[in-house]
Amino acid sequence: MNPDLTGNNNRVIAIDGPAASGKSSVSERLSRHLGFLHVNSGIMYRALAWSVLRSGIHAEDARAVIRHLGEIQMDCGISGDKATLTVDGIDPGSELKSSEVNAGVSAVSQVAEVRDVLVAKQREYLDVADIVMEGRDIGSVVFPDTPYKFFIDASIEIRALRRSKEGIVDNLAARDAIDSNRAVSPLVAADDAVVIDTSDMTLEQVLAEILDHLHQSGFNQLNEK
Ligand code: CDP
Ligand code: CDP
Repeated sequence: MNPDLTGNNNRVIAIDGPAASGKSSVSERLSRHLGFLHVNSGIMYRALAWSVLRSGIHAEDARAVIRHLGEIQMDCGISGDKATLTVDGIDPGSELKSSEVNAGVSAVSQVAEVRDVLVAKQREYLDVADIVMEGRDIGSVVFPDTPYKFFIDASIEIRALRRSKEGIVDNLAARDAIDSNRAVSPLVAADDAVVIDTSDMTLEQVLAEILDHLHQSGFNQLNEK
């Protein structure tokens, strides 16, 4: 990241891509390998969807969603080497991955006012740590100046298979469609992102390819393990 923009020398590696492309798994390994903080921006959108649904609000009711966001306290922090999140003091935990949240999260995420608030929270992490941040618009919108951007993809069939092996109900095609076609910050590979099709790759191979690209682009990490 350009130090002039952050006031420090912290760096961010952006990992974007569609659902079940392997973002979380590879971001977790990469951050551990580099000693960076792993931040999953998706859980912020999921936490809002979770809170909205719990309050009996329809995820498609944008005005009610915006009002609700103004009424809750979403705290994003760090504990040890992990990013943390609570809503009104509660950690939603595994409920963030529920089929109800999967079904509602893309509707909530297409609201511009929601994105403004959550993107500001995402950017704050770079003030305090070197980070690997995963999401949909990290390289294109949240940190467009970072030289380290990856867009990881896989065929819809492979992604659906990966998710079903996890035993989770998740209509990937529906989420893909809303995420890719929304007016604000759609899911898109930044022009300068390295695109990796992981359909036939293991996690180890994806990690190795990302590290290769990082080193080729002059990335130097003293703490690298
Ligand atoms: O892990 P998975 O890819 O299934 O989903 P996620 O990263 O947790 O994101 C859940 C949803 O949040 C996505 O389908 C998007 O609608 C939204 N999202 C977003 O709009 N922008 C981000 N930077 C991250 C997630
Ligand atoms: O974060 P995202 O939704 O993009 O994907 P993930 O939760 O990291 O990965 C979804 C599932 O696919 C997990 O069970 C991974 O272990 C698996 N996966 C895989 O088998 N091969 C890969 N190259 C990447 C992920």
